Amino acid sequence: MSSDQQSDTAGLNQDATVLPIVRTVADLRARVSTWRSRGERVALVPTMGALHEGHLSLMREGQTLCERVVATIFVNPKQFNRAEDLQSYPSDNERDIALLTELGVDLLYMPEVEEIYPPGFQTVVSLPALSACLCGAHRPGHFDGVSTVVSKLLLQSLPDIAIFGEKDFQQLQIIRRMVRDLNIPVSIQGGATVREADGLALSSRNRLLNPEERARAVSLYRALSSAVEAIEAGEPLSSVLERAREELSKAHVTSIDYLEVREEQSLELFDAEQSKGPWRIFAAVWLGSTRIIDNLPVRVPSIRD
Ligand code: PAJ
Repeated sequence: MSSDQQSDTAGLNQDATVLPIVRTVADLRARVSTWRSRGERVALVPTMGALHEGHLSLMREGQTLCERVVATIFVNPKQFNRAEDLQSYPSDNERDIALLTELGVDLLYMPEVEEIYPPGFQTVVSLPALSACLCGAHRPGHFDGVSTVVSKLLLQSLPDIAIFGEKDFQQLQIIRRMVRDLNIPVSIQGGATVREADGLALSSRNRLLNPEERARAVSLYRALSSAVEAIEAGEPLSSVLERAREELSKAHVTSIDYLEVREEQSLELFDAEQSKGPWRIFAAVWLGSTRIIDNLPVRVPSIRD
């Protein structure tokens, strides 16, 4: 019996001795369809690797919701709009495999670029309205790359559920809309943002911050949390946002891409006349050559303009 078969027959792979790895759509489908034909539910957790506790929390969520969890690691070239960002994207497959093994994940799908985008590939999945604002406005083509690859990963694996982090809230809403629009038979679940002790949201890109940038990075979470507090206390939004910008520049962030309050569902900018909420505050800032993002819910029945 091969070690892969052993983990298949060992139920939830709780002894965490083997992590089967597949690299082709055919092998992925064979595994998932075997499980589903036995009545086992399957959760998919797509990632680009360089795994941290945020990714692992999504895997654990999958384990509570389903009998089987499939992780994917694929650094998707189509969602990088800057060549240097793709080149500098962190990667540590050995460590990732060890972490997933320890967690008892059932399968890792780690395709080569040619498996996902074979020669002649030309389809683009695009959600123009939801992709136009926030990160989409600053990273042209990024969300077309995300929606194209996520639609492929979902159709390749056909899981029962797929889990994405609220840390990338715009991405999560785009994927929810895409799945509804294309009738992809999967339930999309959001996972809460996992943070460092000081509040900084975990991100693979945090590895690229030098110690001095890392110290400044916490100002993003601090500025967003105090903005939420002030909005919830009834302070007018315009003065809240102005102060948050001041706080960020005092903390010497290199630049601010955006700092905005938008409706969660539509991602439309807060408008005192029309917005019904619930709302969220979103921001992206640069620390040197590294860009970090974060968002927090604003839990009030109404916001002062
Ligand atoms: P990646 O940045 O590797 O993130 C993989 C998943 O982990 C995403 O759903 C993301 O929202 C979630 N995540 C990241 N940081 C988190 C944190 N601090 N807490 C909770 N969840 C967190 O997002 C992508 O990859 C890609 O765009 C992908 C969806 C895989 C498509 O290529």
